[in-house]
Amino acid sequence: MNFPVGIVGVGKCVPNTIVTNQDLVAGGLDTTDEWIVSRTGIRERRIADAETRTSHLAYGASQEAIKDAGIQPTDIDMVIVATSTPDYALFPSTACLLQDRLGLRTDIGAVDVSAACTGFNYALSMAEQYVATGACRYVLVVAGDVLSRHVDWTDRSICILFGDGAGACVVGRVPDGFGLIDSKLYSDGSYADILQVKPDGPSHIYMDGRAVFKVAVNAVVPAVEAILKKNGLVGSDVDLLVMHQANLRIIEATRERLGIPEDHVMKMIEIYGNTSAASIPMALCDAKQGGRLKRGSVVLLAGFGAGFTWGTTLLRWAY
Ligand code: COA
Repeated sequence: MNFPVGIVGVGKCVPNTIVTNQDLVAGGLDTTDEWIVSRTGIRERRIADAETRTSHLAYGASQEAIKDAGIQPTDIDMVIVATSTPDYALFPSTACLLQDRLGLRTDIGAVDVSAACTGFNYALSMAEQYVATGACRYVLVVAGDVLSRHVDWTDRSICILFGDGAGACVVGRVPDGFGLIDSKLYSDGSYADILQVKPDGPSHIYMDGRAVFKVAVNAVVPAVEAILKKNGLVGSDVDLLVMHQANLRIIEATRERLGIPEDHVMKMIEIYGNTSAASIPMALCDAKQGGRLKRGSVVLLAGFGAGFTWGTTLLRWAY
């Protein structure tokens, strides 16, 4: 069996606390709003309080996505959580916590996926297989992170970049001609050292920013070109490009290389910063709620992150 598979519901959840660039300066960080905006496009980010964990944000995003899909929690046949910041370092998984908190059935699988900022692309492509084969009717795919816990708030080259949040999608069967057209995952562990949390010492993100920038552009642009070419499309056919929101300049460089019109690109980095795996589903949710996704829209998702991992997904919006 090979059922057509698509996203049938979206949701997101972010912490209430907004930290602006000015707040960072006022807090004593040696930076300026102008530097951060010109280098990254970020103006503010949401930061979780001490009690808020990934599962709490994932819960809020999931509730919204299930409601948007018009189904009941008990209709979900599997839950996949993409996160680098699970509530528990080893186990239980964040997906299991979510299974319980949402009141999902117990005869379903619940699993976490670790692919850093590309986690949503990885989880979505796994969900696709379960729905396409008929093994599952609905899979809940959630991506959430609280990376603010893993930055050194005195390191101006890192702490300005990240924010917290979660995005969720319900993946299910869609009518013929809609839903996922193609997807491709990539990995290259030889770049493990340019973006990592070192196994020893403080649990802080280490990044060689310039190297990450270069690797990201060199990986993502050809991957996006490849999936378009393989499916007989060109940049101007894309109604909405949803890239991982890590740096506005990376988004712009990709958009320009592909000839995608400026108003066909989701840009949310300004208000959320880099929310890791959550950034793509959060952007999808805002796009849907903002009327930027219509039934039949051609949508291109492009993720990239530590590993190095990257991935592309092409879909025709189904609702
Ligand atoms: N405010 C002011 N100055 C800062 C600063 C800040 N927040 N952070 C760094 N600087 C300084 C550096 O100390 C350096 O000063 P120096 O020249 O006196 O040594 C200067 O700015 C340039 O630093 P550099 O790191 O070369 O800047 P950059 O132009 O590469 O921008 C990033 C830094 C992080 C914004 C950029 O490299 C980037 O976005 N990389 C990709 C990051 C990414 O996408 N990560 C997530 C992947 S999932």
